[in-house]
Amino acid sequence: MLYCTITLYYSLVPGGELQEKFKKNHDIIFYRRQRDKAASQYFASFETLLLTDRGASLELCERDSQDRLCLQIRATQSGTVRVSLDELQPVKPRYHVSDVLLGELRYEPLRVNWKREDCVCLTWGLGQYKLLVSFSPFKLEISCDGEEIVTLNPENKLYFETLQDPTRSSSDSCQDDENRCGLWKETFRQFEDIKANGPSSVGMDLSLHGFKHTYGLPEHADTLVLKDTSVTEAYRLYNLDVFGYDINSRLGLYGSVPFLLAHKLERTAGVFWLNASETLVDVKYNPEPNEGEDEPPGKKSKISPQTDVRWISESGTIDCFILLGPTAAQVFSQYAQLTGYQALPPLFSLGYHQCRWNYEDEADVKAVDAGFDLHGIPYDVIWLDIEHTNGKRYFTWDSQLFPNPAELQHHLQKKNRKLVVISDPHIKIDPDWPLYCEAKEGGHFVKNREGVVYEGTCWPGESCYLDFSSSKTRSWYARQFSLSKYEGSTESLFVWNDMNEPSVFNGPEQTMPKDAVHHGGWEHRELHNLYGFYQHMATFEGLLTRSGGTERPFILSRSFFAGSQRLGAIWTGDNVATWEYLKISIPMLLSLSLTGIQFCGADVGGFVQDPDPELLVRWYQAGALQPFFRGHSAKMTKRREPWLFGDDVTSAIRSAVQDRYRLLPYWYTLFHQAHTSALPPIRPLWVEFPSDTSMFAVENQYMIGGALLVCPVTDPGVTEVKVLLPGSDELWYDTNMAAVHNGARTLDLPVTLNTVPVFQRGGTVVPRRAGCGSSTADLQQHPITLTVALDSKGNADGFLYLDDGHSFSYRDQMQFCLRRFTMRAGRLVNSCANDQGSFDSDDKVESVVILGLNSLKRKPKLKPGAPKTTVTFEFDAKRGPLSFVSPYNGGTRAQLSPNTHCSSANGSKPKRRL
Ligand code: GLC
Repeated sequence: MLYCTITLYYSLVPGGELQEKFKKNHDIIFYRRQRDKAASQYFASFETLLLTDRGASLELCERDSQDRLCLQIRATQSGTVRVSLDELQPVKPRYHVSDVLLGELRYEPLRVNWKREDCVCLTWGLGQYKLLVSFSPFKLEISCDGEEIVTLNPENKLYFETLQDPTRSSSDSCQDDENRCGLWKETFRQFEDIKANGPSSVGMDLSLHGFKHTYGLPEHADTLVLKDTSVTEAYRLYNLDVFGYDINSRLGLYGSVPFLLAHKLERTAGVFWLNASETLVDVKYNPEPNEGEDEPPGKKSKISPQTDVRWISESGTIDCFILLGPTAAQVFSQYAQLTGYQALPPLFSLGYHQCRWNYEDEADVKAVDAGFDLHGIPYDVIWLDIEHTNGKRYFTWDSQLFPNPAELQHHLQKKNRKLVVISDPHIKIDPDWPLYCEAKEGGHFVKNREGVVYEGTCWPGESCYLDFSSSKTRSWYARQFSLSKYEGSTESLFVWNDMNEPSVFNGPEQTMPKDAVHHGGWEHRELHNLYGFYQHMATFEGLLTRSGGTERPFILSRSFFAGSQRLGAIWTGDNVATWEYLKISIPMLLSLSLTGIQFCGADVGGFVQDPDPELLVRWYQAGALQPFFRGHSAKMTKRREPWLFGDDVTSAIRSAVQDRYRLLPYWYTLFHQAHTSALPPIRPLWVEFPSDTSMFAVENQYMIGGALLVCPVTDPGVTEVKVLLPGSDELWYDTNMAAVHNGARTLDLPVTLNTVPVFQRGGTVVPRRAGCGSSTADLQQHPITLTVALDSKGNADGFLYLDDGHSFSYRDQMQFCLRRFTMRAGRLVNSCANDQGSFDSDDKVESVVILGLNSLKRKPKLKPGAPKTTVTFEFDAKRGPLSFVSPYNGGTRAQLSPNTHCSSANGSKPKRRL
């Protein structure tokens, strides 16, 4: 198959040399131009400073070219500074990204704190933050209470190429001047790219003071901590379809989030560069990593660390947001106020998804579905890849293989299971296909530079590409999902958007030429990184409209941009079935989670090639601890349903999936937290332990919420793993064994094929279901159990969020319940944590497991092992029916009196003594 052969990665160029399909840094001419440019000299003058109640504006002028820019500085009360630069009088408007920001922010008036001839100091709010604007040359320093945080343009690398009028410029005559190459025309392999208004790149440097750890900038198959790119390739943000991508690489993959986080003791900060054109980011740590680190402990290093970051984009404007934190939680929230919170997933989508390219036909789907029941493995969704369609015409069915799609969905729905089908952005050119004709007549396709509909090849062969950047096209596409239009679809059908970088098999770097033209005359180069985001948005609109706005859509997209979190889930594309890809999935998903894309996963088992059984088990175990949990495999791989490798494998996979299901009340509560406060469900350790520098680079373990530390096994044949347990004041309870460990140590943990290292942090309460059922709907019949893991003072806290799991009634009618469980001095209190919600449910807390009584120096009222131990339950039933029923001690060290009953659906029974 063309797509999968090695010739796709390399091709022969005249002369017989191998040339790579994807560009390296040195092939990217605008990047080279920016890098090679001598320092620029932008000057500002105080006379042009204009202060309004929404910020400040100022004119900048470049000394040599006399190019003039308009600078806007705005700041919010919550600690975000926005710095925007555009041409003062462009020959035509430059592209501004729309639809990514949630709306206009509330900016604060800026005040002049003091001024001098060469600079002005601005401030806002309570005055702890200061902005020092130097005029000659232009520089901007942001500080808080006298501590410098970020400096913009510290080394005068700001460089803004102004658009030119093609009729007034000579054509590309660059033969004798390499630096001028590519200004109007650029060639890569056989592809020519014509730049309608000449060079248009923008770039700026900034320094992050005191920081030596940076994160984010997905999507790359690389380490969690960003690398120093002075010795490696820069981070490329350019959405590309890279089948079986290399790992440890800064090549841009399927999606881009131009958001970088920096962390040091006492402060986390963020930089969001809102630009949708191809972007490169260079990171330089000063001093170099490890330099100056052999100082004796306690002695402050003389060299103050600093990270320099340089952003370079091919086009558009500079629109840079500095998020000042100071905590990681505040940076997440500042970012979510800009680009939106994670959509609350329908509960079923947090269950397990079974996918394959392709399930052959209806009988195959039913047999796989039955296989899950037969083997006692819960699952919620089965997926159909491109072969389910009539000749890769999306919204159709192959009538031989899937003659009764609606009946198939009813069959699944009876068991509360769903079907997901693929819908890619390319449309087969087929004048006999009404959907193609309608799209063509409606003007819904992207055009080429000559103004005729652009044609490229993808799965169906010759295809056209929908122009999702147009709201008219998005609405047209959304209508295709209505039950009346989409024949054979039912309400239990959900959608998967793939190949939406977009992937064009015969295009430059397997994507769309940059000089293709979108709605409004915008070149593809301006918005390339938004293409997938816009398709995701259109599909979201489709599913939302299909239900009359009442049901939460579920859509998986391969391509994404900042803000895609509002639309659904993302996965990391075509990975390979080897241990290295299992390992790299963890930092990849953590990077996505840090940058807002929190409902994310990697193909379990590895998409390309066949995993051996051990790898498959370990991948299921790891996948069950990741937000989006889907097994998927490529067409040419062997079948790998969990029961095909013998009883030991089936049993290990069953147990991993069942544990996932039992833990879903906790996952769902975490997603509610992500949806309302932007805290990512999975978090690098430094987020939870921000003052422990030894956590800053850990990427093989992470936290699920604040309570569970996980360390998936990602090496073959191991009998022991090393688990770093943070925090000298912490207690960690091994959820597999009745063991508790002190923090600030590395544990040598013996493991078998069945071991999944998960530790509950002392001081937390984790809700689970007592059983796992066969699907998430079935799961609801099982009562809740609470695992209360005490900290060294005997305290613990936790939350449980419940709603109907599928509709927007939690938002529109406030039908939800958020309970808080607090254990203090032997008293467990179940209280209402948000009295705006009310929710009817029969859910009960059936059991409470208390861990850690033996570790307490001073025992509370609970006496270990005593037959009649007293625990006080305080129960506040206000607006939440969740009640305790017969709590019993499932832990090893405490006993509560049996036959205890304190159930109440409507009235509160405070301070009930058991
Ligand atoms: C792409 C997707 C993969 C899918 C295949 C066929 O390679 O990444 O998940 O199975 O296309 O649609």
